[in-house]
Amino acid sequence: MKTVFPRSLSSRPVADCIVVPFFEGKNKAEPATADLPYNSIIAGPLLTKDFLGKEDEMLLLYVPSKGKEKRIILIGMGKKKKVDLEEVRNCYALALSVCKQKKLHTVNLLLPDLLDHIEDSEIVRSTAEGVFLSNYAYDKHLSEKVVLIQTAAFIGVEKAEEKIIEKAKKIALGVYLVRDLVNNNADDVTPQYLSSCARDLAKESSKLRATVFGKKEIEREKMELLLAVNRGSSHDPAFIIMEYKGDPASKDLTALVGKGITYDSGGLSLKPSTSMDTMRTDMAGAATVLGIMKIAASLQLKKNIVALIPATENMLDAKSYKPGDVYGSYSGKTVEVINTDAEGRLVLADALSYAVKKFKPKRIIDFATLTGAILIALGEEISGIFTNNDEIAHGLEKASKKTGEWVCQLPLFEKYKEMIKSQIADMKNVGERSAGSITAALFLEAFVEDIPWVHIDIAGTSFFKKRKGYHLAFGTGMGARLLIEFLENL
Ligand code: BES
Ligand code: ZN
Ligand code: ZN
Repeated sequence: MKTVFPRSLSSRPVADCIVVPFFEGKNKAEPATADLPYNSIIAGPLLTKDFLGKEDEMLLLYVPSKGKEKRIILIGMGKKKKVDLEEVRNCYALALSVCKQKKLHTVNLLLPDLLDHIEDSEIVRSTAEGVFLSNYAYDKHLSEKVVLIQTAAFIGVEKAEEKIIEKAKKIALGVYLVRDLVNNNADDVTPQYLSSCARDLAKESSKLRATVFGKKEIEREKMELLLAVNRGSSHDPAFIIMEYKGDPASKDLTALVGKGITYDSGGLSLKPSTSMDTMRTDMAGAATVLGIMKIAASLQLKKNIVALIPATENMLDAKSYKPGDVYGSYSGKTVEVINTDAEGRLVLADALSYAVKKFKPKRIIDFATLTGAILIALGEEISGIFTNNDEIAHGLEKASKKTGEWVCQLPLFEKYKEMIKSQIADMKNVGERSAGSITAALFLEAFVEDIPWVHIDIAGTSFFKKRKGYHLAFGTGMGARLLIEFLENL
């Protein structure tokens, strides 16, 4: 999307529509901007109270005479005092969804400028986020393509604020990558596809490097859990390492680990069909981590990051790994595999211990669509976080409030470790049905030694069945913006 910055209402370009924000006043909608276009047209619905400016209210009006636009989209943001960043994002997302419906190409945007409890820069940022994050479609397989906005004019923003908008755009491009990877067919997004995606990203910046281990190197490194999960698949596994050096002078290093199960059938512990049709998304952790690397490079973030992705399908075949058998791991610990559908924690275990041993990072953050139980506990809009270090958890909570990518900390409850004790191996890979997300996290904890670590379970948040605000249907890309905000605050 092209962005232009007319300084005032009168200097705005010709466009298909103009978006005008309103607050919900006392029994009447109040303009959220000082300058208002088309006064006489807008007066009607305000007088009749057909439009009250309530939260997520929208009214589409038409301009009968000659004007710079043919349409006016009124959006309601609710009571002025209650407006927050998420409401701003969602309002502009609503306006963009109207543009999509009407197949518009160009939009003029008026930003709310009468909010005193939010800084101007924050308003500009969240408006831009709402616009960019909505201007995406996964229409590859549709005969009729979705029409997206080609040019957006942000009216009245100051010169210094243009940078904020350009930054939001760069971040959105990273989010699009995450969404594309999650949305595309599992037959296309294989471990090899993720590997070439990492290699392509490395070409975008001299500060980025990609190394890919194929099956031979993975065997040489003795990543036995990754190999075990891979046994049923016709695609070789891959272990992807991306290094971003944004601050070469510093020793500080953040390791990111992303679950890269490119399809999760459950393996011999086969999933029911009704749980399988979304399992092409089981590499959302890997996608998030790749998206973060893309954004870090394009923003030239002054941080050092290493991203590790264990990638494989989890399929069933005569060669599949078997429930009840014991497998070794990169760390040396042995694991009794009770259920081959709890494969994410297995491949992550090898990646986490590899991160600890080879990189000794200051902190490790893993993203994984790890458990269905997290969806039951927190729903689609909140990711579960588990940590051995409260400071990182606080950092993530702070970033969460800024970005609207909600997180909630759940306990690594010591006593539940009992549930993943095995009589024939060092651990088993599943506990009981209860506390499923916690025992999964406790399993991972055994592989990070004493490095500060957070596990983010995105099984609920990475994929939506329907659009909710600026999170479009299917891959949401949630997690990437959260982590960029977190890293910037370090
Ligand atoms: N990939 C799934 C988790 C998942 C479920 C992601 C729903 C997205 C939506 C994971 O590998 C899995 O199958 N977990 C099992 C664990 C169980 C066997 C202990 C689960 O959650 O049922
Ligand atoms: Zn599984
Ligand atoms: Zn899985």
